[in-house]
Amino acid sequence: MRLRGRTGIREDLLAQPQLVTLQPGEWKGRWRERFGNDAPIHVELGMGKGKFISEMSRLHPDINFIGIDMFDELLRRGSEKARKAHEGDPPNLVLALWNIERIEEVFASGEIERIYLNFSDPWPKKRHAKRRLTHPRFVRKYIQLLNEHGEIHMKTDSRLLFEFSLNSFADMGLRMRNISLDLHADGPAPNNVMTEYETKFHEQGMNIYRCEVVVGSKALERHLEDLRAREAAGARKNVTP
Ligand SMILES: C[S@@+](CC[C@H](N)C(=O)[O-])C[C@H]1O[C@@H](n2cnc3c(N)ncnc32)[C@H](O)[C@@H]1O
Repeated sequence: MRLRGRTGIREDLLAQPQLVTLQPGEWKGRWRERFGNDAPIHVELGMGKGKFISEMSRLHPDINFIGIDMFDELLRRGSEKARKAHEGDPPNLVLALWNIERIEEVFASGEIERIYLNFSDPWPKKRHAKRRLTHPRFVRKYIQLLNEHGEIHMKTDSRLLFEFSLNSFADMGLRMRNISLDLHADGPAPNNVMTEYETKFHEQGMNIYRCEVVVGSKALERHLEDLRAREAAGARKNVTP
């Protein structure tokens, strides 16, 4: 990702403490306090320039969002984008400077409800597999941080990363649903907010892979109920004369 000059970036970020935090670990276990409500918390790991998280927080005012990236220039870009999308300070969004390697230092157990992994770096070389954000060593941490309704939603252009991730989720005993090997095959996917990378790759005609991972016990219960209801509806349709 190409970044601009670094002049004044820290000053810029420090000047917007409501939207940006450079010490997210200080809020571990207290994010509800920071947002001032009990709404669920959705986190994008590796938010890049912040298009997705800005748009999502605007569309879903009843959910609190946290975008994390390790580059301060990306946080600055993200903060500009968020302010523009919300026409001011977004009440339900925080952008955090952090390395996901140490994500467990930012959230307490069960503090978040959803993790978005959008176009995470694929690290194609086998010897770098441990750096992939869906490696079991990361997924283990995510399971710990997610609550009973917890889910992971991932999108990628990388077939290699997708295959690796599905295996990783399966090896951890997690159930997956809504798996797509070509998200935009039938035109714009309903309710899908495009990320920067997604827009670029889609315009280049590349397939976008997507899946949802059911993590929390209540999320799993709801998923199984949905499946039963769908099956029952199918059976009813079959016996209707
Ligand atoms: C390929 S970009 C995708 C950006 C955005 N999600 C999108 O879809 O347009 C991956 C992003 O993840 C961030 N990232 C990668 N590893 C990270 C880590 N260990 N900690 C924090 N951010 C990380 C990078 O800085 C980069 O912004």
